[in-house]
Amino acid sequence: MVSGNGSNLQAILDACEYGWLVADVVGVVCNKAGVPAIARAERSTVPVVILEPLVDEVRHDYDLRLRAVVQGFDPDIVVLAGFMRILSNVFLQQFPARVVNLHPALPGELPGTHAIERAFTESRDNWRTHSGITVHFVPDEGVDTGPVLASEVVPIHADDTLETFTERMHEREHVLLVQTLSDLCQKVSSLQDSELAL
Ligand code: GRF
Repeated sequence: MVSGNGSNLQAILDACEYGWLVADVVGVVCNKAGVPAIARAERSTVPVVILEPLVDEVRHDYDLRLRAVVQGFDPDIVVLAGFMRILSNVFLQQFPARVVNLHPALPGELPGTHAIERAFTESRDNWRTHSGITVHFVPDEGVDTGPVLASEVVPIHADDTLETFTERMHEREHVLLVQTLSDLCQKVSSLQDSELAL
């Protein structure tokens, strides 16, 4: 699920294509028309659904529509790869222990939007030398919280600009997200195999 540039989606698509990630992207859902993530998905063979909120639509109603679309793809794992909406329980309860989010900060730090910019500003104010990235499950409506699957420290250098730091963050995100999804996919498939064996 995406909302913007889609560079993490691209990392997943590329990893699947080259066999680094043994998985199939069964569908891409985007809540915003016209963003680069849609073009990236369209360049692959993956079906894309653009589902924008209607005027005055309340979160519950939008999340019900979203839930139906995502259910239609029957995913084993739902990846929030830069999906910039808070999901409510009406959606999350449909996919227990299956929704994974990528947060551009260390666990428990800088929840919400613009975490990269905020970390960089804090580093220039001399009280931060690093930030990081986290891949975590989304069990409930908490913002950027939930059981951590993986995290990594990303340094902020004295001569960084916001652009160089942002680039480093995204590079590390692409690697950590694919690695973590790979581990998770193996666990999901061995679980399914053992269930099948019963
Ligand atoms: C990433 O920094 C991710 O951590 C955050 O949103 C950004 C999405 O980037 N949740 P992209 O759309 O994948 O390029």
